[in-house]
Amino acid sequence: MRHLLSAADLGHDEAVMVMDTASQFGSIADRTVKKLPTLRGRTVVNLFYEDSTRTRISFELAAKRLSADVINFAAKGSSVAKGESLKDTALTLEAMGADAVVIRHGSSGAPHRLAHAGWISGSVINAGDGTHEHPTQALLDAYTMRKALCGGKGDLAGLRVAIVGDILHSRVARSNVLLLRTLGADVTLVAPPTLLPHGVQAWPCRTSMHLDDVLGEVDAIMMLRVQSERMQDSYFPTAHEYSQRYGLDASRLARLADRAIVLHPGPMNRGMEISAVVADSGRAVMVDQVTNGVIVRMAVLYLLLGARGPRDVRPDADMPVSA
Ligand code: NCD
Repeated sequence: MRHLLSAADLGHDEAVMVMDTASQFGSIADRTVKKLPTLRGRTVVNLFYEDSTRTRISFELAAKRLSADVINFAAKGSSVAKGESLKDTALTLEAMGADAVVIRHGSSGAPHRLAHAGWISGSVINAGDGTHEHPTQALLDAYTMRKALCGGKGDLAGLRVAIVGDILHSRVARSNVLLLRTLGADVTLVAPPTLLPHGVQAWPCRTSMHLDDVLGEVDAIMMLRVQSERMQDSYFPTAHEYSQRYGLDASRLARLADRAIVLHPGPMNRGMEISAVVADSGRAVMVDQVTNGVIVRMAVLYLLLGARGPRDVRPDADMPVSA
């Protein structure tokens, strides 16, 4: 595989391989010396046209832990702000010898254009495109669920997952539905009808309008941010009403199964889709999601760029020189 543009690019075995590879990197992340020489001499460009905290620094750290040279190219303050096109930016990165371009863009499909227009020869990784996809977020979510609920091995067969909130504007939801299904989980999307995308009936999942009906039956519940910046219309009467019907608060938390975990991709709107009590509770795994994001992105970079290729995955063969 050369690019990672969609969660659908990953078959079952490939998705499990990414998680297994991440888990090997996880054992190295606990050491004092966390750096591996694996991608020494390779260049990874973070091309971010949209604001991001977690995802950008997570990719940066992942590439640096593998000894790649990293360039952070933020659209603000670059020639993009002067109107340079994606094509011209891509040609510049190609001329500088980028081996991988990690792109976040407000337009759905921008990473596909970058990968398939023939402007660059390196790998393209989609770090979030419009309301479309965010495959590495889905991988880190699946990894977090596997670690917490499935003994850290294999796939997610039979796991019951609810994804709750603003599905319409969420690239996280789409990538998660695709990947979780590939890994054998049962997914239910919970949202008001106005926040479900057209054509959701064709997605490989169930839908529900009633959060209270699904609480008792899930192993993992993923709360999504209401993405006001992507909303031109009003999709629900008031913030208060939204959080009454679709917010996860302490009383709803108490109705989850004992082993169930709570995920959120961040950034959280505390008091809206998730209460502060839930966000700070022992059931919430947001901090693990961030930790796992780094090793999952290391695995993705390693599998796309690593000299040995996906058939011979042995990240532990490249131990830190001074470890
Ligand atoms: C998400 C995103 O940007 O798509 N966040 C993230 O990558 N961690 C979700 C969001 O912005 O709500």
